[in-house]
Amino acid sequence: MVIDVITIFPEMFEGILNNSIIKRAIEKESVIINVHDFREFSLEKHKNVDDTTYGGGNGMLIACQPVVDCLKSISGYSDAYKIITSPCGAVWSQEKALSISKKEHIIIVCGHYEGIDDRVNNYIDEEISIGDYVLTGGEIPALAIIDSVVRLIPNVITEGSLIDESFTNGLLEYPQFTKPQVYDGISVPFVLTNGNHEEIRKYRLYESLRKTYKNRPDLIDKLYQEKRIDSEEEFFLEYIKKGLSFEEFDKLKVKKPKKKNNA
Ligand SMILES: C[S@@+](CC[C@H](N)C(=O)[O-])C[C@H]1O[C@@H](n2cnc3c(N)ncnc32)[C@H](O)[C@@H]1O
Repeated sequence: MVIDVITIFPEMFEGILNNSIIKRAIEKESVIINVHDFREFSLEKHKNVDDTTYGGGNGMLIACQPVVDCLKSISGYSDAYKIITSPCGAVWSQEKALSISKKEHIIIVCGHYEGIDDRVNNYIDEEISIGDYVLTGGEIPALAIIDSVVRLIPNVITEGSLIDESFTNGLLEYPQFTKPQVYDGISVPFVLTNGNHEEIRKYRLYESLRKTYKNRPDLIDKLYQEKRIDSEEEFFLEYIKKGLSFEEFDKLKVKKPKKKNNA
């Protein structure tokens, strides 16, 4: 996959792109990432890229010319999937990251100041927001998009690590623990230490549902709407809605449904 980014702050990308999984993906040639400074394309005498807004208002807006000229200079521009970062865009999600990770070439445009002249959207496929808040520039959103996409490119990380990750099956991930077994008097749930794989699976499903119900009830609603809740999950949710942790639920010794996907 090739990712081109256009920005007036290319140096903001150095730290993230040169570390951890993205660095390894670049070294393995799973991804090529090019960062372009669109200020270099400005036709203004002092390489200005912004100007006042028509109709009045505070702040400066980036003009189309340097952005579009930079976009068009990128090899493969016409066929690439072009994204602009904007608080007004469709909200980024794991689903979108997965779909974008299958593309061969994407270009991401980073705005700054008050944003970019709206006519730039004539050269773009999709406006993307990374959430309902306003950042100073599109560099952090572009890095969030790149990071979430690159880790989904085949062979960038061990596929097994992706299976239970938050959002993959529509739920948040279950709580995880490492050594020591007791930290500051707080023990790892006993069920995770006794090697009973079926009980561990049940604990993880129950606690994944419980965390999602508590922090993101909208995701549970979505699963119901899409008829993606099976009878085991429905059964667990009954007890989760009563406020019971897996340990408390387990003590009730109620007969649990045998397996998943038996709806
Ligand atoms: C200060 S913001 C412009 C905000 C704009 N005036 C508005 O009210 O919608 C400058 C740039 O930061 C980026 N940006 C800020 N918040 C963002 C978000 N939530 N998602 C994606 N990009 C964002 C965009 O590239 C935007 O052009």
